[in-house]
Amino acid sequence: MGRWLALSLALDLVTCFLHSPEIPRSNATILAFGDSLTAAGAGSIPYGVFLAEILGVRVEVLGVWGETSEHRGLAHLLLGRMRQRFVSFHGARAPSDLPDVVLLLGGTNDLSQVPLADTISSVKAMHELAASWGAVVGVLALPRFVNPKVGSARKLFAANHALAELEQNYSFPSFFVNLSEVSSRHLYDGLHFTSDGYLIMAEMIAQKVWHWL
Ligand SMILES: *[C@@H]1O[C@H](CO)[C@@H](O)[C@H](O)[C@H]1NC(C)=O
Ligand SMILES: *[C@@H]1O[C@H](CO)[C@@H](O)[C@H](O)[C@H]1NC(C)=O
Ligand SMILES: *[C@@H]1O[C@H](CO)[C@@H](O)[C@H](O)[C@H]1NC(C)=O
Repeated sequence: MGRWLALSLALDLVTCFLHSPEIPRSNATILAFGDSLTAAGAGSIPYGVFLAEILGVRVEVLGVWGETSEHRGLAHLLLGRMRQRFVSFHGARAPSDLPDVVLLLGGTNDLSQVPLADTISSVKAMHELAASWGAVVGVLALPRFVNPKVGSARKLFAANHALAELEQNYSFPSFFVNLSEVSSRHLYDGLHFTSDGYLIMAEMIAQKVWHWL
């Protein structure tokens, strides 16, 4: 009972908003999908908001807060969320409203408890889902964290290596951004970034994305 309650609470904590830039340069839409690192929090401005302003495109920030609350991990729950999101695109909107680029940042919450292969397989399924909708897929490496409860540096390294290899294997349009290059000086709680850190993330992502817009 307690477990299910925790699960449903975790699922309810979804931050979702569409940020339109002050100076629009294109009608493209980017979907920034992920966990609490995407949602930001504690007053930090999410990277998606900076990205919208840098590129002049709309960015929908969709971050699901949660801990690892089922044995297959948060990444697996995110996959379910993403399917729901795409069902809503399909049902209610014109194809031109589909996102042009989908950025995915997921897997950090699973590092300490879920086998890496399971997390990577959920993340891969999300990439393939986004690609099936015609979106360019941004494979975002897990950012560096310093809270030992989240996982070890070795696991972080292994996860990012696997993500980079996944991206190299894709035959659909995709790119990889190594967010572990952002210094841990910009973390406020050992895991989540301050606005400064999110601005650096957005600049790194923008450098890769603009080719595709
Ligand atoms: C966005 O789309 C509208 C309607 O199709 C068009 O009038 C406008 O010029 C487009 N804006 C940009 C920046 O491409
Ligand atoms: C990502 O960057 C970190 C820090 O610079 C580096 O140690 C790691 O090897 C890089 N990972 C990949 C997959 O490029
Ligand atoms: C990428 O492709 C190679 C060669 O087909 C394969 O050995 C490897 O397991 C693949 N990596 C991932 C992460 O899927």
